[in-house]
Amino acid sequence: MNIILVGPPGAGKGTQANILEDRYHAKHIATGDMLRAEVAAGTPIGLEAKAVMDAGQLVSDGILIRMLGSRLGQPDCAHGMILDGFPRTVPQAEALNDLLAASGRHLDAVIVLDVDEEALVERISGRFACAKCGAGYHRSFHPPTQNGICDKCGGNEFSQRPDDNADVVRRRLVAYREQTAPILPYYAGRNLVYKLDGMAPMDEVTKAIENVLRQVGVAAPA
Ligand code: AP5
Ligand code: ZN
Repeated sequence: MNIILVGPPGAGKGTQANILEDRYHAKHIATGDMLRAEVAAGTPIGLEAKAVMDAGQLVSDGILIRMLGSRLGQPDCAHGMILDGFPRTVPQAEALNDLLAASGRHLDAVIVLDVDEEALVERISGRFACAKCGAGYHRSFHPPTQNGICDKCGGNEFSQRPDDNADVVRRRLVAYREQTAPILPYYAGRNLVYKLDGMAPMDEVTKAIENVLRQVGVAAPA
């Protein structure tokens, strides 16, 4: 299966992609995570991207399209992928179309997580991750089972993204409305868009996505 998860910052794209990745044996590809890895490694792409990301703006289409193009060619994407954060502009959507067609693949669905923007600030400002293994948590909605200890690796250090503060979140929302929302009519014209309630509890959102996947003929492997 090849699907795209679309939604404003904090809509739950990463949360749902992590759940679906295990169930459907499809690779979760998050361009935000890929860019943060470039920043952490101090590569030329990372150096260019950091200031743009910290300001809540979009990194250039050229960089993203090249980055995704080489990622999709790797063997772990052959069984399918869950795209989280790409495409984010119409030129990126067009480039994805070409990349998939060139490798004989197609999109099964574009799943849009509809959310109330007011709630996003709370979601994002409460979010943190394990500094050792990257497992994601939320202060109120998804805290570690044992306070201060990572469920996955037992680590006791956590970190927060530099772009997860109220000012930058507002700018990320503007970028979503102005540059990313226009991809929806592009995909609606291909009958690929499914809008779901992203404000529902996490497991209900997962069920709604699984319903869409059944509807488009994608079954979870046994
Ligand atoms: P990116 O990393 O993609 O950030 P984003 O789109 O802003 O999305 P987030 O990761 O903030 O949110 P999410 O929807 O994944 O929510 P999550 O599941 O974590 O991009 C960062 C930056 O990189 C961009 O600003 C840009 O500069 C650059 N970039 C990346 N891709 C690019 C591209 N293609 N082109 C150009 N630039 C690009 O959930 C949020 C919180 O809410 C979590 O704590 C979670 O536990 C909680 N939560 C989730 N679901 C629920 C629920 N149903 N109920 C209650 N709580 C919930
Ligand atoms: Zn951990």
